[in-house]
Parts: sequence; structure tokens; C-alpha cells
Amino acid sequence: METLNGSEIQREILLNPNESCWGGYLFDLCAYSKTLFKVAIERSFPQLQGLPVSVQPCSQNFKADYQCQSALSIFPLVKSQPGAPKSPQEVAELLIEHFPSVSAVSDIGLTGPGFINITFSPDFLCKLMDNIYRNGAVFPKPSHKKRIVIDFSSPNIAKQMHVGHLRSTIIGDTLSRVFEYLGHEVFRLNHVGDWGTQFGMLICHLEDKFPDFATESPAIGDLQVFYQESKKRFDEDEGFRKRAYKGVVTLQNGDPTVTRAWKLICDVSRAEFQRIYDKLDINIEEKGESFYQQFMPSMVQYLESKGLLTIENGRKLMYCMEGKPPLTVQKSDGGFTYDTSDLAALRYRLIDMKADWVLYVVDAGQSLHFELIFEAAKLAGILDPTKHRVEHVAFGVVHDASGKKFKTRSGETVKLQDLLDKAVQHAATIAEEKRAESHEPGSSDVSGKHEVIAYSAIKYADLKNRRTADYSFSFERMMSLKGDTAARLLYSYARIVSISKKAGEFLSGRPPLEKLYHPSEIKLIKQTLRFPEVVRAIEKDLMPHGLCSFLYNLSDTFNIFYRDCKCVEVQEGTVIKVNINRLTLCDAVAIIFRQCFYLLGLKTVDSM
Ligand code: ARG
Repeated sequence: METLNGSEIQREILLNPNESCWGGYLFDLCAYSKTLFKVAIERSFPQLQGLPVSVQPCSQNFKADYQCQSALSIFPLVKSQPGAPKSPQEVAELLIEHFPSVSAVSDIGLTGPGFINITFSPDFLCKLMDNIYRNGAVFPKPSHKKRIVIDFSSPNIAKQMHVGHLRSTIIGDTLSRVFEYLGHEVFRLNHVGDWGTQFGMLICHLEDKFPDFATESPAIGDLQVFYQESKKRFDEDEGFRKRAYKGVVTLQNGDPTVTRAWKLICDVSRAEFQRIYDKLDINIEEKGESFYQQFMPSMVQYLESKGLLTIENGRKLMYCMEGKPPLTVQKSDGGFTYDTSDLAALRYRLIDMKADWVLYVVDAGQSLHFELIFEAAKLAGILDPTKHRVEHVAFGVVHDASGKKFKTRSGETVKLQDLLDKAVQHAATIAEEKRAESHEPGSSDVSGKHEVIAYSAIKYADLKNRRTADYSFSFERMMSLKGDTAARLLYSYARIVSISKKAGEFLSGRPPLEKLYHPSEIKLIKQTLRFPEVVRAIEKDLMPHGLCSFLYNLSDTFNIFYRDCKCVEVQEGTVIKVNINRLTLCDAVAIIFRQCFYLLGLKTVDSM
């Protein structure tokens, strides 16, 4: 290892981090390891710039903490240089020789075909844990604060929200929470479907059945039934169908009576959606398709003026990708479509809202739609890929427990409301069974607890899967205390909290955390300290499941620690001895647990 020269004082601070350097913020060990290797690479090959730096965390059962695999990719780039290393191993040896000497790193070694492993010193790691205990889990302010639009949930008015919208709601909410946590400005937008063909038929049906709807409140409380009636007429009655199509255009042209009818229908639907958002603790702002009507005519004109539209049978189309169908920007009757509203919405978000990122959390079935919209926006000069990040955050289908598409027995899509109610019932039944088994009296505040457990179970069961994969929905599985479930995580957390509770009187005036050397302590510390890099990864890949597996591993490592390391000794109900360092460790771990729960939208319970 080599020491630093005078001109590198600035960097030295970075290389030997201390309290004044992390300033109470979370410290990202993976990013730090990368910095160290970057320095080693630059020093080993001062004449070459931009050599690749790739550093990854070692898998859990590895002896070391982070591994650098750059030697393998650097070797072919340098081997023709005079006096160059003759193998990837030799490159790795050179990197080790030039690796900055920092007290934080206690071990460095070469393994395999040229991998370099580093290990952090327990004292250094204790300092980082102590920092979490004292200052909480706070990220440093981002150097480039982003304006991020997240388009999620987005159900359709007059139709029920279904499990697809549930996925969008859960994933979108977690991504929003993560970006807010990282210090970005997030706009959570509900792009509800409130402007399409279904409104023509709904409004015509309303006009026929409740001509006095403006003065008398009509019985459309069950919008679903109302929708089905109007759909039946639409399918069977040619005259009605024609009127319905006209109705949409009249609505889009701002006719006051039709607009009043439309508003009434939206209000009924909105109240239904809100009930679900309240249950799931979702905060979202409605900016539906209709909001963008004001920009649609000029949008079409603009595309026309740029010569991007083709007219076919009176329809204005935009062909934007070879071999792919065109977007329908305006129908022959003058009406606008889903395509028009999405183009107008994207323009509004990028230009008027000045968003840096626009993310669409929508099922994978709509991939082509978004591919075309993004391409069209590029052609129209609205989206600049060098400036904007615009992505379809696609997700897979939900199957039932037997692997078939999620449907009720009669073949309809499952209503979200019913699904949530069933989950709460399920949680209550399980609790009742447990209570009967243990012969304990039931607690008084059970209903709130069942809801917490049920909704947490549903959210976690969704988030833990790789977003793009399909998954199957099973109440039994998601609520089990065994396996990778919210119930189990909440249980682990309740256990950590109970340790602190037991040791109540030792809670204040803790000395700095130090001297933790038991392998189960070290494992727990190292797992906890991976939190910053796991959250950062979501910024890149938009995949929340990484956070779930992190938390699951954390709970596992905690349980092993709990088994191996006594924190508090109790005799006849009184605490007789406390290991204060372990207590501080538990409290720091609890902070990370809570933060993860928050990001995943799970609420905690103090006992199960
Ligand atoms: N309402 C649509 C649906 O239920 C989803 C809308 C997604 N967002 C968007 N900007 N297209 O399928």
C-alpha cells in the first residue's frame, strides 16, 4: 500500500472518512469502495483515463465485503502498453500495490482470475452504526435534485380498480417514497381514464334514465352496474352506439350539460378510489386524461405543422417506428384518443412542469403504446434523451394461487375492494386461530392491527417479486409467519423493539458504539450498512424487490444475532444486566427496519 502525496490532501479526507466527513448522513460503503479502487486504478495507469471501475458487494457467505472485478476488463485495454502487466492477476497485483492506505480497510487480497476483495475494519463499521443510532437514516442532499413525475395507479372512471391497478399503486407509491427520501422533488400523478369512449355511452345512458340528473341525485351509486347497463345498450343498439360516439365529441368540445353529467360520474368514481387509497395510505394527485384536453388541439396542430401526420380515412395518424402501427392522434369524427392525451401529457410534464424524469408505472401489456409515445415525442422535439429520463416502468400479471389469470369464480376481474376486505378477514382468522392455540385473551385493539397486517402482507407480497415478472397471489402464503412475508418481518421488528423496551432504563446517555467482534454481530452490522447502496440501486433500476430482499436478509441476520448474542439478562421479571453496545446495535438496526417499512409503505405493529 502506498501513502498519499501533498497535493492529494483533499482526497485524503475522502479516503480517511471520519465523523466530520459523513456529517451525520448515511455512508455508502459500496460507493466508497468504488472511490478507493478508482484511485488505485488511476495511480496504476496514470497515462490512461476512464478505465472501468466495477465494484460489487460480496455475497453474504464470502469472507470479504466488496469485490473489484476491474482487473479483468482493464487487462485487454493495457496489455499493448510497454511494460504492461502480463495477465489480469498482474493487473490486480498492481492495483493492490497502489491501493490507498486507509484505516477503514483492514484487509485486501487477490482471488480467482484477478478479483480483489476488501474488508472493512470492525472499528470503522462500529462508527458508521453509531452514526445511524445517533443521527438516524438520512441521505445527504442530492447534488442534482431531480423533478420526477411518477404516473401511477391511474384507474379508469366508472370501472372498478383491479389487481393491475393495485400493482401500479403499490409499486408507484414505493418508488415515490424512495425518491422523496433521496431528496428529489416527486410529483405523484394519477392519470385516471376519464376521457374515453366509455363516457359517451355512460352520459347517453344517464340522459335517458335520469333526465333530471342536474337537480336530482340519480342512483348511480353502483357505477359498475350503471356501466354494465350502458355497455349492453352500446353493444346491442346501433342507434345508441352512434349517439355515444357523438357524446364523446360533445364532451371533448365542452358542452355544459354533458360536462355536468361527466362530472357527476367522475365524482362517484373518485369517492370509490379514494376509499382504497385511504386504506392503503396512498397519497396521489389526480390529473386525468381530461386535464390535457386544453392542450390537445394545439398538440395536433403542432404535429401537423412539423409534417409528422398522415391522414387516412379522415383519421390523423402518426407513424413513428418502422414496422409498428401508427398512433391515432385524432379520429375522423374529430375526437381525441388515449394516444393524444398521452402525447399532450408528456409534453406538459417535460415542458410546462420541467420534469427531469417521467416514469410510467403501467402493466407490461402497454409496452408498445409507450414505446410509440416516447418515439413520437422524440420526433416532435419534445423529449430530449440527453436531458430527460422517460421510462415505462412495466410490471407483470397477477395470477391466482393455481397459476391462472386472476378472476372471480364467475369469470369477472376481481374487484380491489373485495380483495382488500378478504385479506383483512384472513388476517383476523389467523389471529383468532393463534389466540385459541395459545389460550391467551384477545387484545382489545385488534381490528386496526388486522388491517395493518393484511395490507402490509399484500404490499410486500407484490414488491418482493421482480417487478417485471408475473406472480401468483395467495392469502395463505403472504400471511404466513414462515417464509419471506411482511408478517415475519413485522414479527422480527416487534422483537427488536421489545429488547429496547425491556432495557428501558438504559436508553439514554449511550457511550459510542464499539468493540463488537462476535461474528453474528459483525454480520448484522455489515448487512445493515448495505442499506444506502440498496436504496441507491433503485434510483438506477427502479426495482423495489432489492429493498425487500435486503430487509429479509436483515431480519434473518438479526434473528441469528438474537440467538447467539445476549443483549439483556432478565431474572424474575427484572433486568439484571445489559450489554449496552448490543443495545445500541439493536436500536440502529431498528432505525433501518423502520425506514425500510416506510419506503415499502408498510405500517408497523409493536406486537404481533
Ligand atoms: N388508465 C390506464 C389503464 O387503466 C392506465 C393509464 C396509465 N398512464 C398513462 N399515462 N397512460 O390501463
